[in-house]
Amino acid sequence: MHAVGIVAAAGSGLRLGADLPKALVPLAGRPLVAWSVDALRAGGVTEIVVAVPAEQRDAFAAVLPADVRLVDGGASRTASVRAGLAAASAAADVVLVHDAARPLTPPDLVRRVLAALADGHRAVVPALPVVDTTVVVDDAGVVTDAPPRASLRRVQTPQGFDRAVLASAYAGLDPAADLTDDAAVVRAAGVPVVTVDGDERAAKVTVRHDLDLAEATVGTTSERASQGAPATEERNELGVEPCAR
Ligand code: CTP
Ligand code: MG
Repeated sequence: MHAVGIVAAAGSGLRLGADLPKALVPLAGRPLVAWSVDALRAGGVTEIVVAVPAEQRDAFAAVLPADVRLVDGGASRTASVRAGLAAASAAADVVLVHDAARPLTPPDLVRRVLAALADGHRAVVPALPVVDTTVVVDDAGVVTDAPPRASLRRVQTPQGFDRAVLASAYAGLDPAADLTDDAAVVRAAGVPVVTVDGDERAAKVTVRHDLDLAEATVGTTSERASQGAPATEERNELGVEPCAR
């Protein structure tokens, strides 16, 4: 199985409000996009294409390994992924699409998605339970529905696809369509999408608080490593940190 990773990094990051495109914003001194590319590589993805803002190509080239291919992204995430997909080598039979804005995605999550593809699933998304009651509101903000939480999931990236399935779903999609993820693109083409366990550490950096949390996570993890403490995977079931004192 030859996997190509497509990293969507062409957004501006309006909600984060930094003076740089979000993918270039540093986390512990390294741009988010560099962390996200590393996460895919650590999980076993060797070929990587990154969709970047056209006017920032040089800045991205300066912070990424030389064998990462850069393409000009588009006005929407959907357009950026479409451009990345067009640049993937013909040898790839599966595609993992990842947000540059998910810097701390663990390699195990990438491996779970690849394993489900190797099992023959054509579309795979990492998903987590919803912990808050989630409601539907009307234009006035009045609650009109509260779907049962047990069947709701939060969907993350990387999302994995059979390459031919994703390519044909994009080919059949309205060129102006703007969907928030790629599973929506293949679902629009009638392809079933399966879930594997997501991971809280694959959270998306959207607002300032998310970046603060990521900084704290990196700090905590390196502190624990220097103390010889067990890695996060070995924490107890509730994910509760034992008291360090
Ligand atoms: N993305 C992209 N091309 C776009 C818009 C978004 O490649 N035209 C990428 C972003 O770089 C990000 C991912 O899609 O890694 C998820 O999008 P989001 O979190 O919404 O990032 P931004 O669009 O940059 O942020 P905002 O919506 O706050 O402006
Ligand atoms: Mg956006």
